[in-house]
Amino acid sequence: MDNIKVLIDEEKLQARVTEIADSIQEEYGEKELILICILKGSIFFTVDLAKKIKGDVKLEFIRVSSYNDGTESSGEIKMKLDLKDSIQGKDVIVVEDIIDTGRTLSYLIEYLKMKKPNSLKLCALLDKPERRVQKVNVDYIGFQIPDKFVVGYGLDMDEKYRNLPYIGYLE
Ligand code: IMP
Ligand code: MG
Repeated sequence: MDNIKVLIDEEKLQARVTEIADSIQEEYGEKELILICILKGSIFFTVDLAKKIKGDVKLEFIRVSSYNDGTESSGEIKMKLDLKDSIQGKDVIVVEDIIDTGRTLSYLIEYLKMKKPNSLKLCALLDKPERRVQKVNVDYIGFQIPDKFVVGYGLDMDEKYRNLPYIGYLE
């Protein structure tokens, strides 16, 4: 087992997810809302967020790969699992685990805009601003974090550690 240090503990994480859910609910009210979960990393965040929004929430899933392996983004994004239902005319929030270089979200925003949703917003649990290569406007951000490779709460290192209930980093 690698030595993992806690960066954001479970309590802080959940409290922030509740705050984000509250602001989303305030903004969308009774409107039908589609959360697009970017697999696999955003699964835990999307589920917790969806549970905390008291409204008409629907879920969609997309899977992209931007990493060859390990911890460096390859820059090339491949669609591994596409949307199954139309989002045309819908109010959509893309839910991402972390924005690192910004390449994944920039690509996805352009792709999703072509599907003509009524509105498209972005929500990311974590943001590593130091690493940005491509500018992205995010509407809801959980935490800004330093340039460390983090794991847990959906985030992995070679598929490991997704099930940690907190955000940690490897020493
Ligand atoms: P970007 O395209 O460089 O912004 O990378 C976004 C994707 O890279 C995220 O959705 C994560 O899957 C992955 N990623 C970036 N930083 C980390 C990290 O610190 N830990 C785990 N995965 C990361
Ligand atoms: Mg991801």
